[in-house]
Amino acid sequence: MHAYYFDNQPGDQRLPHHNLEPSSSVDVETLKRIKVESWNIPVEKGYEEKLDDIAKERAYKNRDVITLSKENLGEDFEEKIKVFYKEHIHEDEEIRYILSGGGFFDVRQASTDAWIRLAVSPGDLLVIPAGIYHRFTVNEGNMAQAVRLFKDEPKWMAIYRGEESDANPHRIEYLKSIAVDA
Ligand SMILES: [Fe+2]
Repeated sequence: MHAYYFDNQPGDQRLPHHNLEPSSSVDVETLKRIKVESWNIPVEKGYEEKLDDIAKERAYKNRDVITLSKENLGEDFEEKIKVFYKEHIHEDEEIRYILSGGGFFDVRQASTDAWIRLAVSPGDLLVIPAGIYHRFTVNEGNMAQAVRLFKDEPKWMAIYRGEESDANPHRIEYLKSIAVDA
């Protein structure tokens, strides 16, 4: 996984939008501070067992596989990727293991509110915490297949950014957990 600051320039969301300032790379420590974690488990070397281990350790009980592609979603594809790219939070962790294709998870860095772009490819396992503002897009390959893991029953609800989401207890709890005032 490659992490860097988003360039905030207009243009297709699927493009890398890599901020070319020398300091645009984001290291693991910076991600840790905002509670974003990642692992790499090569897909081709029997990932199931390692994924099971992490799932067990972190008490992720359920999972399914999602395929975002034009083939799979037909006419809904363009609409779907626009929806996923709308800034939101969840009341639970978002856990994804990329099987094929790739894309970008953008996460807001508290308290600067800068977008950090996480470029994911096959083998990347990413955990983003409840209450962090984020969005997702496929890259120019227009395809992402991922295992979605859940602690309990899937909580699909996206709470879009606004006054209500800022006041959400999970948002407030998240900010507290990283020692940033709401
Ligand atoms: Fe999400």
